[in-house]
Amino acid sequence: MTLVFGFETSCDETAAAVVRDGHLMLSNVVASQVEIHRRFGGVVPEVASRQHLLEIMPVVSLGLSNAGVGWGDIEGVAVTHGPGLAGSLLVGVSAAKAIAWARGLPLVAVNHLEGHIYANWLHHPGDPPPPPPLFPLVCLIVSGGHSDLVLMEEHGRYRRLGSTRDDAAGEAFDKAARILGLGYPGGPLIQRAAGKAAAPQSRKLPRAWLRGTDDFSFSGLKTAVLHLAQEEGLWPPGGVSPGEAVVTELAAAFQEAVAEVLVTKTVAAARTHGGRQIVLAGGVAANTRLRELMVERSSLPVLLPDPNLCTDNAAMIAACGYHHLRAGRTAGPDLDVHPSLKLA
Ligand code: KG4
Ligand code: ZN
Repeated sequence: MTLVFGFETSCDETAAAVVRDGHLMLSNVVASQVEIHRRFGGVVPEVASRQHLLEIMPVVSLGLSNAGVGWGDIEGVAVTHGPGLAGSLLVGVSAAKAIAWARGLPLVAVNHLEGHIYANWLHHPGDPPPPPPLFPLVCLIVSGGHSDLVLMEEHGRYRRLGSTRDDAAGEAFDKAARILGLGYPGGPLIQRAAGKAAAPQSRKLPRAWLRGTDDFSFSGLKTAVLHLAQEEGLWPPGGVSPGEAVVTELAAAFQEAVAEVLVTKTVAAARTHGGRQIVLAGGVAANTRLRELMVERSSLPVLLPDPNLCTDNAAMIAACGYHHLRAGRTAGPDLDVHPSLKLA
């Protein structure tokens, strides 16, 4: 039985968790800064890092007490060291290094994107564990900063098949929501608006297929939403309420375009690269239409993380860290942050 303590501060969530044997969540504490950044329409890096400084120690204490354990029970400390905002990452990495050093615990550096994948194998006490990975698997990682298609050959072994050439899927959701006057963060608001559309298929937006590659592009779609919003008098903002038919129809058309491209390209990549399973990860993996369409279109088994674990948390970092710890991949006190860290 191995307990790993996880830290996550790569963006605007201060998070700490204790995970047993890479899958059982004994605690999972997330202090979100979303209310602080909402008025700016996006994350303000300097504000985020200062807020992490205020939150980190109370969140760490809660992570330990909610799990009902003490530092003496913990066998490793895992922390996100990239990619993300430099100032935000620095808070988590500094705290993790200090605790690892003070308690004589091994320190494990986790790539945030790899961490997202491990949300798929987490479960709460009393719930059955999700099925184990079927390697090689194809993972679609879609978050606010990334859209990557990755072939995971085994724990810790990845091949990047493709990624976005411009906007990440989550970033596109956030920008489209802003154009439609729905607010921030955009993903859940677009999903809600799309769900209210009386005629969800009444409008069609363009899809960028980038045929012959496993890459994505979403900036053209965003521009198409902007042009339609201008034609309909939605942009510049003001005057039209978020419940109006034109808003809900455009939200539905946008969500369908993103989901269809992500699903079609993931299913094709799994076929080309011999994947035995499709796995979703990252904040956008919480999207119900994306989840539904992936299951519908894939002949391979599809693994979907609990929607509450798709967005940033530390349980996924502790789960991933457990596998690195077992493989002996530990970090030293010179561990630094890597804002542009890539997977594979
Ligand atoms: O993984 P995450 O929490 O943070 C990053 O690592 O970037 O992802 C946040 C992103 C945001 O862009 C947010 O709008 C999007 O995930 N998101 C969603 C949904 N929930 C969160 N996008 C579409 N549908 C959702 N239900
Ligand atoms: Zn993330």
